[in-house]
Parts: sequence; structure tokens; C-alpha cells
Amino acid sequence: MKRAYVTTLCNGDGYVTGAEVLGRSLAESGSDIARIAMVTADISAGARARLAVQGWEVREVAPIENPTPASQLVFQRFGAVFTKLRAWDLEGLDRVVLLDADTLVLQNVDDLFERSGFAAAPDFFLPDRFNSGVMVLTPSRDTFARMVEALAASPSYDGGDQGFLNTFYSDWYAMPVMHRLPVGYNLASFIYQFANGHPLLKATLAREAKILHYMVQKPWQATSTLTGGATAWWSMYFDAHPEKARAWKGRVHAIEDWTFDKLAALVLD
Ligand code: GLC
Ligand code: MN
Repeated sequence: MKRAYVTTLCNGDGYVTGAEVLGRSLAESGSDIARIAMVTADISAGARARLAVQGWEVREVAPIENPTPASQLVFQRFGAVFTKLRAWDLEGLDRVVLLDADTLVLQNVDDLFERSGFAAAPDFFLPDRFNSGVMVLTPSRDTFARMVEALAASPSYDGGDQGFLNTFYSDWYAMPVMHRLPVGYNLASFIYQFANGHPLLKATLAREAKILHYMVQKPWQATSTLTGGATAWWSMYFDAHPEKARAWKGRVHAIEDWTFDKLAALVLD
């Protein structure tokens, strides 16, 4: 069986740092399964070299334009985000675990490849929809062709691939449980941070949190790291870039995570 972890890079180099750190986290999880980065032509040569250092095989793919261009006005990053669908079009692979570049692997997740059919975890914002940042799938020319055909006529509730895919797999919520990943396989970073500060939840989290997803703010883009759970990401970043000034910067990010807790407590009190 040919298996691969796959990530997608489009809309320029903005998410390359995320993919570097994700690649590093997969290596540190002890996985030796292939890693493939699907990149569009606008990903620079320098970025491709950085990806290769973290074990990504770079494959260039043609972008898939957003069928609702107006949604880019809300989130510029949704521009070519439908390019993710190219995972169904990848050649020579039997099973794919598709990970957003803004995810971080905390524990080995190779068991995901033992599932059959399509699987994804609930979305934090609308739990009866799945989040498209972590998906297990079987590449299929036929499925890909059906998706491309459905694109123009399918509504996307969030203006991105996630809204479209939830229309395509509209019965996901009612599917048998094998299609539903435990939430720890796609855990919002801010939930992780919150639970990590809770003395009773900490142990559960250490067991169950496997993939963090920096859904809202991206640690490498935020001016201050109020993303929640940023310390875990920066720790992996410094593993990927040992030449950077880990000592003091690491402390700054830890303080910022602590600030997030305090702010959240203030709001909730
Ligand atoms: C959400 C998902 C992300 C997806 C985007 C666009 O942010 O977390 O995976 O690409 O929506 O639909
Ligand atoms: Mn994401």
C-alpha cells in the first residue's frame, strides 16, 4: 500500500514556515511514511528547498480557483484554497492523510492509515460539520472528477474548501463512526491551550491531543502569539531552526500563552 502525508501550499510562500514545522513534527513523531507537499507555481525555489530539508517531496500542481471569488474579500487566504482537492487527484497513492500546513503533530498518528474510506474530525465552530484541516482519503480520479464537476454549483458555507466538502459529503454527520475522527486528531489550538491550563484536563489532553490546528491565528504570522497553544508550535519551530535564538524567544512565547489564559479567565469571570 502506498501511503503519504500530504499538505498543500498555494497563494505564495505565506504558509511555508507552517509546513516546515509540520514536517519536522511528523519526523519527531517517529513516522517514516512519505511526506508530499503539493505546491502551486507561485511557491518560490527557496521555499521548496526549505520544505525538502524537512523531508517533504515537492510536487507541483495546478491551482484550483475559488468558485466564489468574493469570499477572498473576507479571507485573502481562501484564494486558491480549493487546490487541496488535488489530493484526490494524486497519482500512485492508495491512502492519503491530508494535513493543513497550520497543523502540528504532537504524537504519532500513523494509525490514521488503517482506516478505510473518508474520515475527518468535527469542526469546532459547527460540530455537525467536519473540519477540512485533517482528512483521511483515498485518491480517486472518479471522485476528483465528480468534485470538479460539482464545484460551480455547490454552495460553500464558509467560502472555502471546507464548506464545499461538507456539501459534497453532506451525510458525514450521519455516517458510521469510522468516518468520524476523535477530536484529538484535529484539536483547535485555543482549546488545547485552555484545557492544558486546567489541572484536571491536562492528563486527558496529554493522551488524546494528537494534532493541533492553528485555525484562526497562525503562530508564525501573529505579531503577538495570542493563538493559544503557541508554545507547542514554537518549540517545534526551534527544533526545525536550531540556528534561531531559542532561549529568549521561547520564553517570550511561553509568557504569551500564559497571557492568553489570563485574558480568557478575565472574559469568563
Ligand atoms: C477552515 C478550515 C480549513 C479550510 C478553510 C476554508 O479554516 O480549518 O482547513 O481550508 O476553513 O474552508
Ligand atoms: Mn488550517
